[in-house]
Amino acid sequence: MTAQPVVGLAAGPDAATWYQDAVIYEVHVRAFADSDGDGIGDFKGLLGKLDYLQELGVTALWLLPFYPSPLKDDGYDISDYRRIHENYGTLRDFRAFLRGAHDRGIRVITELVLAHTSDEHPWFKRARMAPPGSVHRDFYTWSETPDRYKDARIIFQDFETSNWAFDSVAKSYYWHRFYSHQPALNYDSPHVRQAMFDVVDYWLDMGVDGLRLDAVPYLFSRDGTTCENLPETHAFLKELRSHVDAKYDDRMLLAEANQWPEDAVAYLGDGDECHMAFHFPVMPRIFMAARQEDRFPIVDILTETPPIPSNCQWGMFLRNHDELTLEMVTDEERDYMYRVYAEDPQARINVGIRRRLAPLLGNDRRLIEMMNGLLFSLPGAPVVYYGDEIGMGDNIYLGDRNGVRTPMQWDGDRNAGFSDANPQRLYLPVVIDPEYHAQAVNVANQDENPSSLLWWMRRLIALRNRFHAFSRGSLDVLLPENRKVLAFLRVFEDERILVVVNLSRFTQAVELDLSAYRGMTPVELFGSTQFPEIGDLPYFVTLGGHGFYWFSLEDNSEPGGDASRRLTVRGGASDALKGGAKAPLNRVLPSYLAERRWFGDKSRRIRSTEIADVIPVPGNNGGPPAGHLVVVDVNLDQGLPESYVLAVAHAEGDDAAEIRKWRPESIITDLSAGGREGVLYDAMTAPAFSNALLDVMSRRRRLSGKHGRLESLPTRALRGLRDGLDADAPAVPISTEQSNSSVIVGNRLVLKVIRRMEEGVNPDVEVGRYLTEQVRFPNSPMVAGSL
Ligand code: NOJ
Repeated sequence: MTAQPVVGLAAGPDAATWYQDAVIYEVHVRAFADSDGDGIGDFKGLLGKLDYLQELGVTALWLLPFYPSPLKDDGYDISDYRRIHENYGTLRDFRAFLRGAHDRGIRVITELVLAHTSDEHPWFKRARMAPPGSVHRDFYTWSETPDRYKDARIIFQDFETSNWAFDSVAKSYYWHRFYSHQPALNYDSPHVRQAMFDVVDYWLDMGVDGLRLDAVPYLFSRDGTTCENLPETHAFLKELRSHVDAKYDDRMLLAEANQWPEDAVAYLGDGDECHMAFHFPVMPRIFMAARQEDRFPIVDILTETPPIPSNCQWGMFLRNHDELTLEMVTDEERDYMYRVYAEDPQARINVGIRRRLAPLLGNDRRLIEMMNGLLFSLPGAPVVYYGDEIGMGDNIYLGDRNGVRTPMQWDGDRNAGFSDANPQRLYLPVVIDPEYHAQAVNVANQDENPSSLLWWMRRLIALRNRFHAFSRGSLDVLLPENRKVLAFLRVFEDERILVVVNLSRFTQAVELDLSAYRGMTPVELFGSTQFPEIGDLPYFVTLGGHGFYWFSLEDNSEPGGDASRRLTVRGGASDALKGGAKAPLNRVLPSYLAERRWFGDKSRRIRSTEIADVIPVPGNNGGPPAGHLVVVDVNLDQGLPESYVLAVAHAEGDDAAEIRKWRPESIITDLSAGGREGVLYDAMTAPAFSNALLDVMSRRRRLSGKHGRLESLPTRALRGLRDGLDADAPAVPISTEQSNSSVIVGNRLVLKVIRRMEEGVNPDVEVGRYLTEQVRFPNSPMVAGSL
């Protein structure tokens, strides 16, 4: 069977290292949405929910195993690496989902369970029948006695007593690290290594963006060692990395190595092994710090964490599909964690706690926000576990780790909107715990309420996505006297983010040494609230219980102060517009808009802008676009957001110099694109753009953006009015700008851009069109058309 490639993502300036800026959403296909009513989620269902995920703002999806499997370890027991479990759909469904994700700019990370297979995999069935010493037998590790590798720990302590299991067909013991039905592959066999390379190629050729390497420390085993993190394992991973690099330039390998920081960091090599590794030890320490109301556990583990190569990234998480693992803490710390987070023994499993985020935190909204605030501001790419964005509950009475794998709660209808099936047929029951009942905790309810956790998470993610400092910035931990407060700086290029977190449930005051930033103004990012300038004294901040601040430290003394607008993008000029809320242009638009005459209510402060859509306006004879119409959503400090239309064009060299000299007020921002200096400016001042718009209207062209369409609606008057005007007719902006912008074209037509977008038909256009077309009223100017 060959894999058909699906459309990949367009290359951007940071395309190769996309994972460094990723916000990852972990989801199990079976748990998300059931499209065919069999009680099990599937790829068609997931495809149908991509808009939800896009709106949430996540940039990558990590899918749990979806391959054929007896499902005795929820799919981590694979019986065929190249197909889709029939419960979840077909390869065609998977490809359609992958394309759908890529179309939305969302990357897809899948599972590469390389350490073991299911005992139902044909390789194992073949091995147990094959003669000892043969190639097929040696796909796995066999032994006459269960005595080898004595120093290897048992991971699933609640279920297994040995890492060896006897196979009655082979009449021999085989080696396994997890459940006994998961025989470990033997990486000493070159055939195993090659087989796994082929699996990797198969999925990457199809367009998968990243692979999570499950249980990666256990690939090789040697007597006299713990059988973890062996040099042979690292050597194999480096080989795998070169193999991937030789074929692709934007794929990612993520190590699942539940190890201490120095051992986990080894999986990144010198930037030549995995691209990412989960930071396991920091996770329980965030919970400890919150409970002890003391920053020490977090600061301590961050201090213990070696720096990582510049092309790598940590994967950070609070919760996932497994138990909250307590392997990477001391015995005392483990006892403490059990005592405070899992008093009920039913909540404990293996070496950890099987609970979701909200129940762990007593469903305390402020605490949930604070924990997410930490997750999204500490170094690393945050991973959100499905359902935690709405504060879903769990069911600790279901077996194994199933209590945190229940159906996603979409609405208050049957099966929480997850499936139409008979409720008894669901793969797992929906949560009906009174406190977290699916009828109360669901997406539909929270969507209706802008104060909900879901909306808050959307805002958090959008804010994070606006700053590279969160993903790529340095970390500088401040150590104020008050240990209940954790404060640190993240700095990247000209972005300086100060994070201050009150780990206590009571109000705290703290004095921060910000002397290095004297003269700067902290601006709190959620509300765009300016705080007092940093002076000579320690900076004094008070925080409510579990409060946290993200400040941008803004330098008012920089040349031009607030008003200077300048952007740098690595690719072409149009990259400044790409990326919705993340578009670089959003950084300068608030000050540009605030200075426009046509920008509505001057009494309200602009908190942020979001590029909602970009519509290229075609230039002459199929050349490059004459400019772009850009729809911008403007978030204000009071009241509802408003939408405005910008016309944006780019110029460099002599053209830019002319604009700087003659029309400086039209400059939106200075722009250095791919090292070339230029400007983005108001395209309404460019005759070519006005003519291009008229041309679009005359030809009744339809222009498409990502989310909407621009329709041309000329009246019958247009032809006569435009007759004789060529494509470079003079177009002169009317300088007395009011609430809209107008341009006189060829001394005959007035092109008017209505800046503020509102629903419905504009009354001027409606009346004008009526007088032109129906009444043919001679005493009012004719309307030639509208877009
Ligand atoms: C780690 C996975 O996260 C877990 O769910 C699984 O049981 C083990 N690896 C074994 O594959």
